[in-house]
Amino acid sequence: MKNIVILISGRGSNMEAIARSVLPGAKIAAVISNRPEAKGLEVARGLGIEALALDHKIFPDRESFDARLMQEIDSFAPDLLVLAGYMRILSDDFVRHYSGRMLNIHPSLLPSFTGLHTHRRALETGVRLHGATVHFVTPDLDVGPIVIQAAVPVLPEDTEETLAERVQAQEHRIYPQAVRWFVEGRLEVDTTGHVHVRDASAAPDGWSVPPVEP
Ligand code: GAR
Repeated sequence: MKNIVILISGRGSNMEAIARSVLPGAKIAAVISNRPEAKGLEVARGLGIEALALDHKIFPDRESFDARLMQEIDSFAPDLLVLAGYMRILSDDFVRHYSGRMLNIHPSLLPSFTGLHTHRRALETGVRLHGATVHFVTPDLDVGPIVIQAAVPVLPEDTEETLAERVQAQEHRIYPQAVRWFVEGRLEVDTTGHVHVRDASAAPDGWSVPPVEP
């Protein structure tokens, strides 16, 4: 059985999508939020998942908070750490500790629009396609080997809210998919930083490129 720990800061809709997707051989061992008021904590408890808060505001600095958070996470012996709307910059020690077993979702087609307010910036820039990316976490913010992306059209009448809604619907599809691939041991990052997904239907040594959804 593979243990998954999910970090959230807010609503937790991606956490919920992952928790509700059938993951044979995997268990959501815990959901942890750095914000005690995060709505996702209640959602997780409602799904029968252990959920706890560790308030970053009571720690003097990022390093001491991350060190304590690592202790908490590691008490659940995670095989995979999933960042699902976890809105904190990670210390280098933290990233190193979970290297190769930490995924993040970002609401843009990386490498475009790293950082915050991605939907607003997509509208301001006038891109015709926007979307979401699941990637392995590396020390640089919103950079790291890309596992799967989903694109959505940007419509002339879109507002930040309608665009966000369309992107989130795709997030809820691609994040459970990426987690399933990880749990099944089908993800491999090559020396150039490209992710390969072992295709169940191919020969044992065959690899397929992650699909880009229309
Ligand atoms: C998601 O849209 C996710 O892509 C984004 O936060 C939202 C969390 O929603 N993450 C980032 O911006 C990380 N840089 P949720 O709490 O409902 O899953």
